[in-house]
Amino acid sequence: DDTRIARISSAIRVIPDFPKPGILFQDITTLLLDPRAFRDTIDLFVERYKNKNISVVAGIEARGFIFGPPIALAIGAKFVPMRKPKKLPGEVISEEYSLEYGKDVMEMHVGAVQAGERALIVDDLIATGGTLCAAIRLLGNVENFNFYINMRSGFACLHIIFTTHPNKGDLFHDHYLERDGKS
Ligand code: PRP
Ligand code: MG
Repeated sequence: DDTRIARISSAIRVIPDFPKPGILFQDITTLLLDPRAFRDTIDLFVERYKNKNISVVAGIEARGFIFGPPIALAIGAKFVPMRKPKKLPGEVISEEYSLEYGKDVMEMHVGAVQAGERALIVDDLIATGGTLCAAIRLLGNVENFNFYINMRSGFACLHIIFTTHPNKGDLFHDHYLERDGKS
């Protein structure tokens, strides 16, 4: 695993001062250009999350749409997109979240996830954790919100978590493939 994680880590390009000064942008497009590193990424997640009774992979627009579907197919789960507003045509539930500047909203189709299902949330990284927390709220776990932010802020990683739905307090988090190697 260390070899694979090292390969993945070195395939992620870091671009300073993008999109604005002071931000160290973690660019996963270079990982996608390296089929072996991309394959390793998916394999590591699949090995970790298969046989965990996960029936839903929820992918966060946009980069969760890249990593989520191959994981979903490999573990035999359905894929549910969590999208920016006004993109999903059916009835939606919405969650607002804060960005570094201003706010955004994430939406999910009503009925895409059933009560009691176990979901895996997939995105490419956490910065403030705001996006991830909105995803968790969409899945119905409000109460562990602050706890989760505190646990996770400051990490730059390819991240993935899973959580049960809708039992509040039963949040199970995970952090894997962290670039600093503390997986
Ligand atoms: C980036 C990244 C995560 C989020 C992390 O997405 O892909 O989704 O920011 O930031 P946070 O932890 O502070 O919420 P972005 O909103 O730039 O959109 P994109 O994935 O559609 O490019
Ligand atoms: Mg994103």
